[in-house]
Amino acid sequence: MMDTRQNTLHISGGTRLTGSLKVNTAKNSVLVLMLGSLLSREKVILQDVPRLSDILVMVELLRHFGAIVEWQGSDLHIRADSITTCEAPYHLVSKMRASFVALGALMGRCNSARMPMPGGCAFGPRPVDRHIKAFKAIGATILEEEGDFVVSLEEPLAGRVVFEAPTVGGTQNIILASVLGQGEVVIENAALEPEIIDLATMLTQMGADISGAGTSVITIKGVERLRGITYRAIPDRIEAGTLMLAVAATRGSVVFEEVNLKQLQAVIAKLNEAGVQVLPLGENRLRVDASGSLKPVAVDATEYPGIPTDLQAPFGAFLATIPGTSTVADHVYFGHRFAHVEPLKDLGAELELDGNKLTIDGGQRHIGTAMHAADIRAGGALIVAALAAEGKSVITGLEYIERGYAQITERLRSLGAVIHRESVVEVVTGTYGD
Ligand code: EPU
Repeated sequence: MMDTRQNTLHISGGTRLTGSLKVNTAKNSVLVLMLGSLLSREKVILQDVPRLSDILVMVELLRHFGAIVEWQGSDLHIRADSITTCEAPYHLVSKMRASFVALGALMGRCNSARMPMPGGCAFGPRPVDRHIKAFKAIGATILEEEGDFVVSLEEPLAGRVVFEAPTVGGTQNIILASVLGQGEVVIENAALEPEIIDLATMLTQMGADISGAGTSVITIKGVERLRGITYRAIPDRIEAGTLMLAVAATRGSVVFEEVNLKQLQAVIAKLNEAGVQVLPLGENRLRVDASGSLKPVAVDATEYPGIPTDLQAPFGAFLATIPGTSTVADHVYFGHRFAHVEPLKDLGAELELDGNKLTIDGGQRHIGTAMHAADIRAGGALIVAALAAEGKSVITGLEYIERGYAQITERLRSLGAVIHRESVVEVVTGTYGD
């Protein structure tokens, strides 16, 4: 006998979102800060951590390595005074690509480590070749054995990494690997994303010697030890962006609290270009007001400081509500990240995908329907689209959506959305084997 559980999100669209919302701390930053905590033998407290399924996988991974990890309210207390194994288990790494960045942290604490190939969201090939080349460039020996990478360090890591193209996880991996030790490591063509700066900021406050984070050249001079710290990650610019696009798609007006305006600059500029009023209300608040007339735009998702690839799908869902021709191109994942296109067509959207570029003939009548989210950000797009459509949509694939959007049902309901989540238990009986 086997239970299969199919959770569904039910959205009756057409309600303008209004009110105010506090943005969570950034999932993609917290995941790596958790790995950074492995580099200290003292306690690290990460404040206001959203209980997303990806974060829970990372909690399991840290515990597997021997760290003591406890929740106190929404704070995560992590203590890694002894690392009991430097081998990452396939069942956790295969669930989440960010676990591959544990390799850098393990190299900081162990002379040898073992890491399976990573998993992650179900869109396209996401290789780790740049990570591996970079580790080798600073002196690590890496062999492949039965699908695992086996790493050993004979000398302190030192030297120069030149990424052929920027990689967020690759840059984080090299920073984590180089912080403890005696060598100096220089990263060229480093990723510029705010999550890199956040990692460097926390590690520097713990005693690391890192300069240049946020620029394309980062220098890390190894130090002997890191102190503990209490730290709060940056706001989640992807959660904020997705919800801003939801407000825009419903022609609503919402104040966002605890945002970082600079980190959202390109998104804000594009929304303004489309006619959405995004008004800063001081340093970390803004209002999104989409009650005026809107016009189609061209979106090009690129590395930071451009519009993030993680927002191209939600952008497409918003632009499908504006009469006229808009385009969305993804220059980070090329043609692989368009799992939202077919479900949006089912809703009534007129879309044409050519390679990495989506052309949208917006302003068609969208009528709620059943849709499946095949990855986190496709899920974000389906929510944006369903909120703006007429009638009821039922979205499956919540296991993806809930990797990236914390308490999405409650938060959207607080803005007036007609939304609820259903948990269905279907009992399937049968005989398996003898
Ligand atoms: N790439 C390679 N080889 C490598 C590494 C990357 O070809 O060795 C390619 C990737 O396939 C991709 C591009 O380079 O086409 C950029 O990948 P990057 O390494 O920068 O991405 P990542 O570190 O794996 C993080 C986020 C992603 C986000 C990307 C891009 C985390 C945990 N993940 O992934 O977030 O899309 O940066 O900004 O930080 C999400 O939150 O939904 C998500 C997928």
